[in-house]
Amino acid sequence: MKLCVIPGDGIGHEVVPVAVGVLQAVLPGLQLVFADAGWETFRRQGRALPDKTLEAARECGAVFFGAVSSPMQLVEGYRSPIVQLRRELGCHANIRPTLSLPLTVCRQGIDLIIVRENTEDLYVGDEQSDGEVAVAIKRITRTASLRVARSAFELARHAGRQRITIIHKANILPRTDGLFRDCAREVAREYPEIVVDEMLVDTAAMRLAQSPESFDMLLAPNLYGDILSDLVAAFAGGLGLAPSLNLGVTAAIAEPVHGSAPDIAGQGIANPLAAILSAAMLLRIWWQRADLAMRVEQAVLATLQDGIATPDVISPGVSTQHLARAVIDRLKQAQG
Ligand code: NAI
Ligand code: MG
Repeated sequence: MKLCVIPGDGIGHEVVPVAVGVLQAVLPGLQLVFADAGWETFRRQGRALPDKTLEAARECGAVFFGAVSSPMQLVEGYRSPIVQLRRELGCHANIRPTLSLPLTVCRQGIDLIIVRENTEDLYVGDEQSDGEVAVAIKRITRTASLRVARSAFELARHAGRQRITIIHKANILPRTDGLFRDCAREVAREYPEIVVDEMLVDTAAMRLAQSPESFDMLLAPNLYGDILSDLVAAFAGGLGLAPSLNLGVTAAIAEPVHGSAPDIAGQGIANPLAAILSAAMLLRIWWQRADLAMRVEQAVLATLQDGIATPDVISPGVSTQHLARAVIDRLKQAQG
């Protein structure tokens, strides 16, 4: 079993080794292949996603990606490597679960999954501007919409979920979002046991803010999925606890939802749980080792129940390393 490890930038260097350590604790034979990507890589090598990294990722199939920094202004030649990596590896679905953990910062009762289309929409990055008029292409295809819908419904079936809410803005964008919605509806017909409804993205934002516990699964185009999942993460302890898995047919990328967090990078206080829980998703969904995923999740839960967490979710918090040791200790105790 091989894993391509891409720490990236900022706190990626702090949380990825922790998550990889947890994976090694449950999968002692795991072979690691380290690779570079991100802003620092771009500055050193002139490429944010070197060919060597792409090759390593393809060869391993399983990838662990930390986070990368992206400048807010246009930098010629730079594009976020995670967007490219997801596309190159054909990871068409981004699965983002939110589950309330036993912490006072978490609103209780939330247990939902957002499935976000991962390859198109405004993220094709096709922008033009003459300084007066700027235009961005929002690309929605039948193929990608059917594909992500199928992944969402399959996941719902396997995870025993009962309802999927399709998110769109087809009242304003009937051709693009309308196509996405219609494709989801088409796939839904093959899953009669799952209840399907739909909601405009702005309404969904309000409902998620009011009653996130009333949702089961959401299926959304790329941009809406990105935004809504950060919103939901805020109710469940913030980005330090939000995991994700980018799923394809030949590859999967585990990736905490957070970015490189330059405001806390280097301080040794980044929360590694988003990364650890992403590793658990890799175990459950990609390697089909639900048994190991459960062990990791139980070790995380036991650690939090003992009051051990980083300062973003508890006061006074412990360091990244302290939390990492606590999780590994509990994993080993459970192993006996
Ligand atoms: P961010 O996710 O890096 O940070 C937002 C806030 O959450 C910060 O206050 C940060 O300290 C906190 N935070 C995030 N992760 C945390 C963790 N594990 N533990 C404790 N606190 C945590 O988003 P921001 O600040 O908007 O972006 C920073 C950089 O990251 C930018 O260059 C952006 O482009 C990049 N980014 C990269 C992503 C990726 O690689 N997938 C996703 C989002 C942003
Ligand atoms: Mg995001």
